[in-house]
Amino acid sequence: MKKYLVIGNPIEHSLSPKLHNYWLSRYKVGGNYEKKLLTEDKVGEFLKSDQKISGINVTVPFKKTVINYCSELTELASASQSVNTITLSNDKIIGDNTDVYGFEQSLRDLNFNGLNKTAYIIGAGGVVSSVVIALNKLGVQNIVISNRTKNKAEALAKEYNLVVSDWGKIIDFDIIINCTSIGLKKSDSLDLDFPNVKDKIFYDIIYKPKTKFLLNAEKSGNKIIDGKMMFLYQAQKSFEIWHGIKPEINDEVINLLND
Ligand code: ATR
Repeated sequence: MKKYLVIGNPIEHSLSPKLHNYWLSRYKVGGNYEKKLLTEDKVGEFLKSDQKISGINVTVPFKKTVINYCSELTELASASQSVNTITLSNDKIIGDNTDVYGFEQSLRDLNFNGLNKTAYIIGAGGVVSSVVIALNKLGVQNIVISNRTKNKAEALAKEYNLVVSDWGKIIDFDIIINCTSIGLKKSDSLDLDFPNVKDKIFYDIIYKPKTKFLLNAEKSGNKIIDGKMMFLYQAQKSFEIWHGIKPEINDEVINLLND
């Protein structure tokens, strides 16, 4: 039986096994999907050792680390320097990125048109490069980034042609995307305030419903989007890459994430 899994640290919270196993059974594709907790120093060993694995999803914090062990990268993986989907076959380890598609598709669903729009990215973690590439594909030319540790924002700005804004500074934007890890814990609260901002789009990459960032934005009259659809779309694309079937995202699938 073919084996698939998601690696990360932490990994306990990952909903990928539930989702992929649901689709594997729904489309009668043989195989099983598990999760594996790894530490940084064990990633290479793991990727090179177990030949029985056919596909791996990669989550925080290994999306960059795994690049060192891939024999090939797709164009998107190379452009983003971020790999979340690995296919293992015939001694090849192919690194791909489906986060770009996930983010892009979640906004296409809402008929988002990026022309003449300004996007404001908060945070400079691993997901930012994927978000930027997706925004570019959607036609957004003007992207501003702000991060608590400014030099990380500056490095990304140089690489992807972004504008850096000081942490906490309010700028004029059409869509703001929280790419920090704040919000994962219930007690977390982004130390940023957006008074008098309304009729904008507030997007939180985290797939938990209604982080404080989104709750506050909604109260002020903004449109809010959580990371659920991005998560589902990146998984859909991984499934398609591995099995050649584009699995349906319907209410039953969406509800899987709510249980
Ligand atoms: P990843 O694994 O996604 O790359 P990361 O590199 O740890 O994660 O990035 C997490 C992001 O959340 C960073 O932008 C981080 O800001 P710093 O670069 O200043 O560390 C941001 N972040 C985490 N906790 C934060 C906090 N309490 N306030 C502001 N930003 C925070």
